[in-house]
Amino acid sequence: MKDLMTLPVMTELIRTVTNMYAHGWDERNGGNVSVLLDEAELADCLDLNRVHRSIPTGFDAPELDGRYFLVTGTGKYFKNVQYEPCKNLGIVRLTDGGRQAELLWGFTDGGSFTSEFAAHIMSHAVRLRLDPAHRVVMHCHPNNLVAMSFVHSLDEREFTRTLWQMETECIIVFPDGVNVLPWMLCGTNEIGLATAGKMQTARLVVWANHGIYAAGRDLDECFGLIETAEKAAEIYLKIAHLPRLNTITDEDLHKVEARYGVKAREGWLK
Ligand code: 13P
Ligand code: ZN
Repeated sequence: MKDLMTLPVMTELIRTVTNMYAHGWDERNGGNVSVLLDEAELADCLDLNRVHRSIPTGFDAPELDGRYFLVTGTGKYFKNVQYEPCKNLGIVRLTDGGRQAELLWGFTDGGSFTSEFAAHIMSHAVRLRLDPAHRVVMHCHPNNLVAMSFVHSLDEREFTRTLWQMETECIIVFPDGVNVLPWMLCGTNEIGLATAGKMQTARLVVWANHGIYAAGRDLDECFGLIETAEKAAEIYLKIAHLPRLNTITDEDLHKVEARYGVKAREGWLK
């Protein structure tokens, strides 16, 4: 059997959460990440018949029954993942229509998957329907996006247009824009369902006054989506209180669309 710690997705996840912490997006236990795993790849490194324990999920996910996820633990600090991956991460297989998660590896201190597992699994289900190559859901608390959600309209089109105007490349990175949820209680099936609903039309979902979710084909795609939106939010906060003398117009953004072969969300540009 191969060493699980040499599995590319494992090393990439550890590097990514370490970097997320370094960016200041994941104070204390803030943030969570889950990756849909390939069964054949996993079978080379792990005995899939050895279930350590079964953890109830509290929701149904029939479409993902039998699927495997690498996921960060609840209450765990991203800064510690690199030193003790088997305590801070887990590999689970969903069973019983998604109502149970069989623990195959990790959470060695008796821990469990993130309290936001509902938002992750429900978002995976939605994004997989839209894109069979979808794999990753990422949540964190980037300072500028959270700050922006206190002072900017939460209208999704307006929020997205502001971000697109802050940096030329935003519209290339997230032409589908940013969807926004108002403040909601986190860690619940309700916010999970609402997040998944928003994932129908965009890969980025802002949780106002809390953080952001990204969905993508790999860890770099999710990290890059958040990094780009967060940088735009930072620029917005630097200039929002100053007179704006120059801006990126919708005409300019149409030129970017044409040059880079992207199509902005229907009706979101004038
Ligand atoms: P967990 O520690 O349960 O992953 O929660 C962190 C968080 O960001 C909640 O939204
Ligand atoms: Zn959070």
